[in-house]
Amino acid sequence: MVPELKNRLHVRKAESTDPIPYDLLLLADPSMTAIEKYLPASEIYVCELDEVCIGVYVLYPAGNGIAEIKNIAVKDELQGKGIGKHLLADACTRAKNAGYDRIIIGTGNSSIGQLFLYQQQGFEIFGMKMNFFMENYDEPIFEDGIQCKHMIMLGKDLPAGSRE
Ligand code: ACO
Repeated sequence: MVPELKNRLHVRKAESTDPIPYDLLLLADPSMTAIEKYLPASEIYVCELDEVCIGVYVLYPAGNGIAEIKNIAVKDELQGKGIGKHLLADACTRAKNAGYDRIIIGTGNSSIGQLFLYQQQGFEIFGMKMNFFMENYDEPIFEDGIQCKHMIMLGKDLPAGSRE
């Protein structure tokens, strides 16, 4: 990411008084029902550009020392500039500092760019929830003509020695 952009970004935990950025959350997860299910137990982190919310990620305690990124999104017109990478790194640092041993993320079989990004950032595929999107979402989801049927799970260990 160019330093001029990085210097204008600020990632922080959302306060209970902050509006929930549903427009962004819905970019990553088209089901409001699913979002409402994981939000109450999660922490929301917002990414602000000049104090305007342009990105979000959601950290969920998945048990056994594992944090799950349930949702990550960047405003349409700002995608492809390195902000997603920055948010993933931020999520890993915060999860590690909070004492988690591992961080995981799930994405659809049709989300080719996201699979590229997560693996590029050190996440490795460890499993698949077969037919997850067919069974849990009311409407069929297609991306670039590929039906999103299964959730591919990726994870990354967070070695304790590297906590900041
Ligand atoms: N297609 C192809 N490549 C992609 C795509 C895509 N859709 N998205 C990201 N990439 C690649 C880029 O090529 C880039 O690699 P490079 O720097 O080596 O060229 C790399 O991933 C990083 O891109 P960033 O610019 O850091 O990512 P961005 O700021 O666009 O954020 C994100 C990525 C969050 C996935 C964003 O595109 C977005 O909000 N998409 C819509 C919502 C979404 O799909 N969220 C994830 C769903 S899964 C979940 O939430 C758990």
